Amino acid sequence: MRIVLLGAPGAGKGTQAQFIMEKFGIPQISTGDMLRAAIKAGTPLGLKAKEVMDNGQLVSDDIIIGLVKERISQDDCAKGFLLDGFPRTIPQADAMKEAGVNVDFVLEFAVPDEEIVKRMSGRRVHPGSGRVYHLVYNPPKVEGKDDVTGEELVIRADDEESTVRKRLAVYHEQTAPLIDYYKQEADAGRTKHYKVDGTQSVEAVSRELTDILA
Ligand code: AP5
Repeated sequence: MRIVLLGAPGAGKGTQAQFIMEKFGIPQISTGDMLRAAIKAGTPLGLKAKEVMDNGQLVSDDIIIGLVKERISQDDCAKGFLLDGFPRTIPQADAMKEAGVNVDFVLEFAVPDEEIVKRMSGRRVHPGSGRVYHLVYNPPKVEGKDDVTGEELVIRADDEESTVRKRLAVYHEQTAPLIDYYKQEADAGRTKHYKVDGTQSVEAVSRELTDILA
């Protein structure tokens, strides 16, 4: 099962990726998490990516396409994978297609911009695993601590409101065109595209995804 999660920053992709990964036993490939790991490790890629990400812009297609190609060739992806945050531009989607990587499901999360700005102010993340929480909508069992490891949760560097608004503008300009791209792919029978109302509760979105993927 090869799945693409498509949606604006903060639409709930990472939250549902965690759920899908556990339910269907396929690895989550989050390009954002991979880049944040590179930043933390201080690799040349991380150093290059940090400034771009802190500014709410997209890292270059060449770098991202290389990262994803390398990752999906690993053994644990043989039975499928879940792409969270990739593709994010038409050239990224084309590169995947040209490499013969077919996508079974494209799950589009629809959430209005103002709701996203509200959500991001309450987001807390566990940097080690990429697990995502929200102070109100999806709180950890113990305040400020990851449910699994008990480690500290942090605020992401790009969650400041002005950066979130920049990321939303970049989304509308460069990523939203992928919705029509994948609708056309679905019309041609090459994938299945579903639009999910991402403003429902976390549990309601998970239930809808379970029905779609069952
Ligand atoms: P990335 O890490 O991919 O960030 P993003 O796409 O901007 O998405 P987010 O992780 O911010 O949001 P999400 O949809 O996962 O929402 P979440 O589940 O956390 O990318 C970061 C940066 O890396 C990019 O800006 C770019 O620079 C670079 N990058 C990454 N991939 C790239 C690529 N392919 N090409 C180029 N550059 C790339 O939810 C948000 C909050 O809402 C959480 O607090 C959560 O608890 C809460 N929440 C979730 N669902 C609900 C719900 N149903 N109701 C209420 N609250 C909810």
